[in-house]
Amino acid sequence: MAEINLLAKYPRAKRNLVTRKVGQAANRVIASQFGREYFDGTRDQGYGGYRYDGRWLPIARDLADHFKLKAGDRVLDIGCAKGFLMRDLMEVVPGLEVWGLEISQYAIDNCHDDARGRLVRGSAQRLPFASGSFAAALCINVIHNLGQDACLEAIKEIERVAPSRGYIQVDAYRNDDERDAFLDWVLTAETFGKPDMWRALFARAGYTGDYYWTILEIDPEWTVRNAAPAQQHQQEPGR
Ligand SMILES: C[S@@+](CC[C@H](N)C(=O)[O-])C[C@H]1O[C@@H](n2cnc3c(N)ncnc32)[C@H](O)[C@@H]1O
Repeated sequence: MAEINLLAKYPRAKRNLVTRKVGQAANRVIASQFGREYFDGTRDQGYGGYRYDGRWLPIARDLADHFKLKAGDRVLDIGCAKGFLMRDLMEVVPGLEVWGLEISQYAIDNCHDDARGRLVRGSAQRLPFASGSFAAALCINVIHNLGQDACLEAIKEIERVAPSRGYIQVDAYRNDDERDAFLDWVLTAETFGKPDMWRALFARAGYTGDYYWTILEIDPEWTVRNAAPAQQHQQEPGR
């Protein structure tokens, strides 16, 4: 089990807490349905527009190198949204067999054309795939959306379908400032804490794959305490 950031090349964006904080309670209810509003609604309810722009390509290359993926290997992306990473993995490793698991029918219906037919509807806590059937199982910014018991089940499931070949990334914070910012920003996360909490959960689940954290980055000019006119940043993670 290794702590390794396989999303190091994901574009970094500082978050505008002011616009997100307004109406946060109501927006949480809407976002947690993972429907159109979450993906393609306004920024305060999720991504504010979730469109393919190629940002996953360098990450797909790093994942392919890390897991030494080759034609004929099977890869599962759990919580794959519209299948953008799936599409890029198939471009980077021609002949790779990629599947996605997604709870959102909206995301499945509006997935990238290149991934169409490869997204299965379901929840991370019960993967409809055989044990050991994947060369890699990816789960990026998804399982913190489950309560802690379900989260534990999901981690066990990732280990089951791809023993020692998982990559899990989850929201985390390292100190009180990061926690406060996280709570001001978060829409859908149910299980969250410091990296040690996650390490303990991984150990309880018997997880032997790799993992890393998504730590919220705040632009100090855009804190709730320093309110300023609204500004929209599109396509940042919608958590
Ligand atoms: C923050 S997005 C991350 C999407 C993508 N993995 C990424 O990193 O850009 C969370 C995704 O997980 C999906 N999701 C939420 N709960 C889920 C569950 N229990 N099982 C499977 N997918 C889930 C949502 O519909 C959404 O597509």
